[in-house]
Amino acid sequence: MSGTRSTTVRRRPQLLTSIAELRAVVASARLAGKKIGLVPTMGALHAGHLSLVETSQAECDVTITTIFVNPTQFGLHEDFDKYPRTLDDDLAALAELSVDFVFAPDADEIYRPGSSTCVDPPEVAERLEGALRDGHFRGVTTVVLKLFNMVQADRAYFGQKDYQQAAVIRRMVDDLNVPVDVRICPIVREEDGLAMSSRNRYLSKPDRLSAVSLSKALQRAAQLFSSGERSADVLRDSMREVFTIAGVANIDYISVADRETLAELERLDGPAVALVAARFGKTRLIDNCLIG
Ligand code: PAF
Repeated sequence: MSGTRSTTVRRRPQLLTSIAELRAVVASARLAGKKIGLVPTMGALHAGHLSLVETSQAECDVTITTIFVNPTQFGLHEDFDKYPRTLDDDLAALAELSVDFVFAPDADEIYRPGSSTCVDPPEVAERLEGALRDGHFRGVTTVVLKLFNMVQADRAYFGQKDYQQAAVIRRMVDDLNVPVDVRICPIVREEDGLAMSSRNRYLSKPDRLSAVSLSKALQRAAQLFSSGERSADVLRDSMREVFTIAGVANIDYISVADRETLAELERLDGPAVALVAARFGKTRLIDNCLIG
C-alpha cells in the first residue's frame, strides 16, 4: 500500500426551500422508481434524529429530511421563539450521512396567507401532552399531513421519544387512509440514560443531573413489572418515589397506559407504556418506555 491518505469529501445535502422544488425532486425520484423515505424534524438535530435518517437510508432509495420549526404546534407561552435553530450545523450533520435532500421552508411557504384548514387530531391526542398543551397536536397533525401530501413518501420515520405524537400520527394515517408506512424508531439515550432531545441543551448542570430521574423512574417501573408487579398504581407510585428522592417537584404526569389509546390502566394484563413529563428549570422534558 502506498502512504497516500484518502480524504472523503462530504457533499452538503441539496437544500430545498420551496414546495415547487420539493415536488420536482419527488417527481423525478418517483419516475426513477425510487422508494422515498421522509424524516420530519424541527432541526437542532441530535443522534436520535440521525438514527431516523439512517434507518430511512437503510430502507429507502431517497431520504428527504425536513427541517421546519412549526409555529402552529407551540402554545402562546411555549418556547417557539427560543427553540434552537441550527440549520448550518444540521446540514453539516446530514452531509456526514450523505443525505440527498433537506426541505427547510419558511413558515409562509407552509402556511400561505389565508390558510385556515387544519386536521382535527384523534382522541388519543386528548390525554397527557394534549391535556397540558392546548392545540399542540392540532398543529402536529396539520403540519405532518401537509408534509405527507408534499412528499408522498413510501415511509415516514418518527422517534418513540415522542410516544404520544407517534400514536396520534399513526391513528391519523389510519383514520384518513394516508398512503404512507409510519415507522417508529427506538429512543436514543445519553450514556446515563437521558433521552436525546433538542431541549437538553437548555439544561443547567444541576438540572441536567436531575433530568436523569426521568429514565430512572421508567427503569424502576419496568423492573417492578419484570419482578411480577401488575398493579399500575404501584408502578406509578414507584416512579413518583424516584422523582421525590431526586428532588424533582415539577412533575406534569406519571402515566401507565394502554399503548394505543393512552387510557390509564389499573392492571397490566397486556402490553403497556409508561410515560413521564417533568420540568427542570424552564425546560420541559418527556420520556417513556414500553412495558410488558
Ligand atoms: O417531532 C417533531 O420534531 C415535530 O413534532 C414534527 C413531527 C417534525 C412536526 O413538526
